[in-house]
Amino acid sequence: MNPNNKFVVLISGNGSNLEAMCKAGLSEQIAAVISNKSGVRGLVIADRYKIATEVIEHKNFANRDSFDDELMKTIEKYTPTLVVLAGFMRILTDKFVNFYTNRLINVHPSILPAFIGANAIENALQAKTKVTGITIHFVTTKLDSGPILAQGIVPIKANDTIETLSQRIHLLEHRLYPFVIKKFLENKITISNDVTASIIHEKNDVLFLNSLNTNIFY
Ligand code: GRF
Repeated sequence: MNPNNKFVVLISGNGSNLEAMCKAGLSEQIAAVISNKSGVRGLVIADRYKIATEVIEHKNFANRDSFDDELMKTIEKYTPTLVVLAGFMRILTDKFVNFYTNRLINVHPSILPAFIGANAIENALQAKTKVTGITIHFVTTKLDSGPILAQGIVPIKANDTIETLSQRIHLLEHRLYPFVIKKFLENKITISNDVTASIIHEKNDVLFLNSLNTNIFY
C-alpha cells in the first residue's frame, strides 16, 4: 500500500466502522476523522488511535451549501486520496459530491438497489425478504446509486428484530469496508462508467462475504 495514500473518514456517531478500519491496520492511513457532532463515540475511537479529529457542527451553519463548503475546506487541509463515509448522517450537496467524483465511498446496509434510503434495515424486515446485506459504493449525486464496489449478504431470520439484524449487518460491514478501502489505496479499483466499478482481485482475496462466514475466494 502506498503510504502517501491517505483517507479522511466522515462520521456522525458510533464509529464502529471506523474502529473496524483501525483494527484492520488502517489507522496510520487515516489523515483525519471529521464529525458533524461533538462528543460522539467515533471521536473517542479516533483519539485512541491518535488520529487527528475535527468537529464541524452542522447546526452552526445556515444551510447545506455553507456547511459543505466548510467540510470541503477542512478535508482539503489533509489532501486525501479518498473520502470515506462511515455513518455520516448528512445529505451532501451536488457540489461536494462532484468535487470528490470517484474518490468518495459509502457503506449502505442493504443490497442496493434494494432498500435505498435511511431505513434500509427496517424496510428489509418489513418487506419480509429472506436476505438483505450491505453495499459499498461510490457516491454520486443520485441517492445510494453510485457504482457498486462490493456487496455482502445477510440472511434474515424469522425472529429477527431491527437490533439483531443490524448487529449481523454491522459485523459484515466491519469486514468488507476495510477490505475495499485497502484495495482503493492500492489502486486496485477500476471504474468502467457511472454504474460499474470493480475491484482487481488477487488470488486468495475474499471476493464475496456472507454473515455465515463462508467466504468465497477468487
Ligand atoms: C452503518 O450501519 C452503515 O451502514 C450506515 O451507518 C452505520 C454506521 O455505523 N451508513 P457506525 O457509526 O460505523 O457504527
